Amino acid sequence: MKLLTSFAVIGLALLSEIQVVLGAPATTCKTPKHTSTPKYTHTPKHTSKTSKTTAKHASLSLSAKVIITSATSKPLVSPIACPAPTVSLGGGGPFATRQGRMFNIQSKTQFFAGTNSWWLSQLQSNADVNTVFSQLALTQFIVTRVWGFSETNNAAAPQNPNYFQVLNSTGQYFNCDPNNGIGRLDYVVSTAEAKGVKLVIPLLNNYGDLGGIPAYTAAFACNSTSFYTDTQCQSAYKNYVEFIVSRYKASPAIFSWELANEPRCSTCPTSVITNWATSISAYIKSLDSNHMVALGDEGWFDTAGIGDGSYAYSGYEGVDFVKNLAISTLDYGTFHCYPDQWGYNNTWPNEWIVQHNAVGNTAGKPVVFEEYGSTNTADHQLLMTPWQQTVLQNTSVAYDSFWQFGTQPLSINPFDNYAVYYNTTTGSDYQVLGYQHAAAMLAKNPVANQ
Ligand SMILES: *[C@@H]1O[C@H](CO)[C@@H](O)[C@H](O)[C@H]1NC(C)=O
Ligand SMILES: *[C@@H]1O[C@H](CO)[C@@H](O)[C@H](O)[C@H]1NC(C)=O
Ligand SMILES: *[C@@H]1O[C@H](CO)[C@@H](O)[C@H](O)[C@H]1NC(C)=O
Ligand SMILES: *[C@@H]1O[C@H](CO)[C@@H](O)[C@H](O)[C@H]1NC(C)=O
Ligand SMILES: *[C@@H]1O[C@H](CO)[C@@H](O)[C@H](O)[C@H]1NC(C)=O
Repeated sequence: MKLLTSFAVIGLALLSEIQVVLGAPATTCKTPKHTSTPKYTHTPKHTSKTSKTTAKHASLSLSAKVIITSATSKPLVSPIACPAPTVSLGGGGPFATRQGRMFNIQSKTQFFAGTNSWWLSQLQSNADVNTVFSQLALTQFIVTRVWGFSETNNAAAPQNPNYFQVLNSTGQYFNCDPNNGIGRLDYVVSTAEAKGVKLVIPLLNNYGDLGGIPAYTAAFACNSTSFYTDTQCQSAYKNYVEFIVSRYKASPAIFSWELANEPRCSTCPTSVITNWATSISAYIKSLDSNHMVALGDEGWFDTAGIGDGSYAYSGYEGVDFVKNLAISTLDYGTFHCYPDQWGYNNTWPNEWIVQHNAVGNTAGKPVVFEEYGSTNTADHQLLMTPWQQTVLQNTSVAYDSFWQFGTQPLSINPFDNYAVYYNTTTGSDYQVLGYQHAAAMLAKNPVANQ
């Protein structure tokens, strides 16, 4: 999802979001309800820590420069790798694989549950990372989803605590810094290996949170729709993909690479994203044959006979779930659900889940209910339990992962009203939506095939 908040101004951002949603009749739900433009404003503590680190390493860390030539000249040169990780990383398999409509992890084919914790790669405290992975492992979450991207256009004033590349008019620069650059993602991958939790890693954001496509369009001569076809923007994106995928391709902690978080090409023909997904997924497979690849999209439909033609079924966002699932180099399909942002009621997600499961069944591929949630903090359990029951009882959805995992205290506060906070109290939201659901998914008969 697009992040609704910043590290600091949580209450305000959510209040305006809720007002926008309530004020909009469902029939006008043709455009995303994300009108705010969140920026990463850190807590005071974090800000001072970040600026010190940045100043100290500024001259050392941005050593991996890629020369960006003009849009029409020869392709960009390959990126210069950052120094090897200093933490223990990689050791070969067993790697997570697709097994029919399910996944095989460490020689077991089973249904399971997971979560989203995009901000793990923005933490600067190793203790915070350790705490989170311990809690995820205790819950029996098998996977978590973490942003594997973070761009800035200006290294002197990065909007994020950690950034992995700088994009500007003179080039593309990878941030090799152990304290606020790629070293932080190294630590996340290394800790995931140690704790036995797998990572789904998107390599780009559709939105400007942590840079994303807007950081590419600000630096180079493409826009939000031409991004997917523009030679220069695609060269820069592929350089970044190569940088990350090559770095972790031996790590058994990687569950899958995702092309992007929620790629959209609003009002474009769906062939734009289908062609892009075909080409980039094949490119990733050529770099790394060990790991699975997924698109990371919201699962929008554009197929006659599925749904009622309303927003989610109209292809408006330029995504066709059925066509994309047929791409041979995509291992599984993803779908998200935010009824209160998309103008649907709270029972509609059950239909949405069953519809994606049916398409997965026809295609013979796993489908994953990758993000779902509600901003209604008082009713997380009441609203989300039926959706989890539909996954469990009515489908062979391989796994589901709610948006988003929360825990406190951390040295930053990246949470929104969707967060379900780690809690061991009987009957708490986390006990029901986390612990109990994860156990129920693991207990589900692996031969079930709906
Ligand atoms: C682009 O970013 C790099 C790395 O921070 C910096 O060295 C360079 O001066 C920047 N170029 C411009 C035009 O700001
Ligand atoms: C993006 O750029 C393309 C190609 O230059 C142009 O046709 C299109 O109108 C632009 N779209 C937007 C939203 O600016
Ligand atoms: C919820 O939305 C679905 C699909 O749009 C519709 O079929 C159903 O009747 C709605 N339920 C309620 C209680 O309004
Ligand atoms: C799930 O299965 C139950 C029991 O068969 C059924 O009553 C319910 O309508 C199904 N839900 C959906 C969304 O298909
Ligand atoms: C845990 O959940 C209980 C019950 O919902 C709640 O009263 C308590 O405040 C929660 N504790 C934490 C640390 O969030």
